[in-house]
Amino acid sequence: MSTTLQALGLSKSYNDVLIVDHVDFSAEAGRITVIVGPNGAGKTTLFNCLSGVEPIDAGVVLHRGDDVTGWSPDALSRRGLARTFQRSSVFPTLTVSDNLRVAAENHGRRGILRGVVGMRDPGRRRAVRTVRTVLAELGLSAIADVRAAVLPSGTLRLVELGRALCGQPDTLLLDEPASGLDDAETEEFHQLLHRLAARELAVVMVEHDLELVDETADVVYVMDAGRVVAVGPPGDVLGRSDVQARLFGHLIDRPLDQAP
Ligand SMILES: Nc1ncnc2c1ncn2[C@@H]1O[C@H](COP(=O)(O)OP(=O)(O)OP(=O)(O)O)[C@@H](O)[C@H]1O
Ligand SMILES: [Mg+2]
Repeated sequence: MSTTLQALGLSKSYNDVLIVDHVDFSAEAGRITVIVGPNGAGKTTLFNCLSGVEPIDAGVVLHRGDDVTGWSPDALSRRGLARTFQRSSVFPTLTVSDNLRVAAENHGRRGILRGVVGMRDPGRRRAVRTVRTVLAELGLSAIADVRAAVLPSGTLRLVELGRALCGQPDTLLLDEPASGLDDAETEEFHQLLHRLAARELAVVMVEHDLELVDETADVVYVMDAGRVVAVGPPGDVLGRSDVQARLFGHLIDRPLDQAP
């Protein structure tokens, strides 16, 4: 088992309030790691810190053992870290295929060659090949030429995942990727995540549906008020009364300090 992404003592404040509070985290190749926690727990902020979207106040981020603290999202993406957002980042006016092509080409370009490279660029040919492979892998080939604007939300979620995969990542950070999907789509989506993990990707996602988490996760992190309050296999973590209290606090009478 190898760690792709790791954070040690990661902290982030907004207006002097600690939103991510000394978090230790690691994502392993071939595993599905799920982050759960109540609204406002700091899950998206943790993703923002791990993916370079937000600067961190303390701690370190390591990617395949190298210190990448403070690296830009672009630089991290070129190293193999892909991220999707809670809100869709698909371009509605582009076709499915062009949405993926833009992602693949952005990923393929480097430094000063960006924008200078012409049609003969082998990177562009590689991008076309990557797009074709990802479309097939996600079952999107038949709608490659359809504009994203007319697609249902379930399909848009796949397009978004496809854009992330076009960077040929080793680590995927997916922020509530199944939101807006119906039950059958969610089931299919999770099977897809298992296939990706089986290819040795480290899949990390935020998910609210605990039944799904129980079925899908290899490892669960429970966050509350910026802190990781429990980590482990779902069977060990999700049934704990202290964890239940944090996830469903308003439904449980017993005060936290009396939990075992
Ligand atoms: N840019 C920002 N400036 C100030 N406060 C912020 C900023 N981003 C997030 N926060 C605050 O940080 C806290 C955690 O937000 P975050 O979006 O990380 O939570 P979350 O666990 O992803 O919640 P949800 O389940 O609702 O998506 C919230 O109180 C939010 O208002
Ligand atoms: Mg969030």
